[in-house]
Amino acid sequence: MTTAPVGKQVLLQRLDGLRQIPTIPAILAPLLRNLQQPVKELDAQKVTDFLAQDKSLAAQCLQMANSPLFGRWQKVESLRGAVVSLGLHHVSDIAMSCGVLNMLPGDKTSLEPLDPVVFWEHSVGCGLLCRRLARQINLGDPGKAYLAGLLHDLGIIVNLWVLPQEFRAAFEIAKAEGIPLHEAEQRALGFTHCDSGRLLAESWGLAPGLIEVVTYHHSPEKSSPNAGVVALVHIADLLCRMSGLNYGYVEERQVNLFEDAGFALLAQDSSLLKDFDWARLTFELDSYMDEVHSLVRAIYRR
Ligand SMILES: [Fe+2]
Ligand SMILES: [Fe+2]
Repeated sequence: MTTAPVGKQVLLQRLDGLRQIPTIPAILAPLLRNLQQPVKELDAQKVTDFLAQDKSLAAQCLQMANSPLFGRWQKVESLRGAVVSLGLHHVSDIAMSCGVLNMLPGDKTSLEPLDPVVFWEHSVGCGLLCRRLARQINLGDPGKAYLAGLLHDLGIIVNLWVLPQEFRAAFEIAKAEGIPLHEAEQRALGFTHCDSGRLLAESWGLAPGLIEVVTYHHSPEKSSPNAGVVALVHIADLLCRMSGLNYGYVEERQVNLFEDAGFALLAQDSSLLKDFDWARLTFELDSYMDEVHSLVRAIYRR
């Protein structure tokens, strides 16, 4: 059964009535401020003291800091140690990931049919892939690319909070027909997680570049002036959705990455893209995904 589209106006009204729900988690606001500062102005002690106030967040951060995905080179046993060995920006990225992970309940039955573990595997996986691609094709700051990948689907959280039944109907359509989630949302809700994500990103005061990513990651050709990063997230999202880091269902369509609009946009911003070894990346993605699965599942089981 398809729910009649409720439209953007209804979304806006409901968001207005539920202001207390998708507010930025207290722990994330100062972290976000920190991540947008120049490196030399960061205060390591302030960040570690702040994280240490929340014991479960601190434990999650340590678990993530000890994952090979975050470049661990020796066991890290304290937040201070993590800052010393990984760097403050890396630890802030990790803390941001854990903080955002905690916005959804760990109990998968409460959000059916979308499994929160699967959703965050997609987000963390996309963030890590963005960071890696940004480094290899020399496209901007890899830390900012990670954050963009991590947060690109924030609108899905909004839809789950604000219109849970309608979102479930959209998700079921997407799963049954094997189509992209944003296409099913457009049909069932009259808007997509890009629209609702934009509202959340604006109300959280995210940087303009991040708002662009949240809004246009499924239509990078509409974005400017940050088209390069938006296209990067678009490509990483596609790679995740076509592999084991999707939303829990397989999309039934063939995607040629090299003919995708995002690929051409990315090529405009990076001369290194033409020499990028995609065959190697595809080969490595399997082991990479195993790491993401075990990391996110370990954090959720705490
Ligand atoms: Fe999306
Ligand atoms: Fe996505």
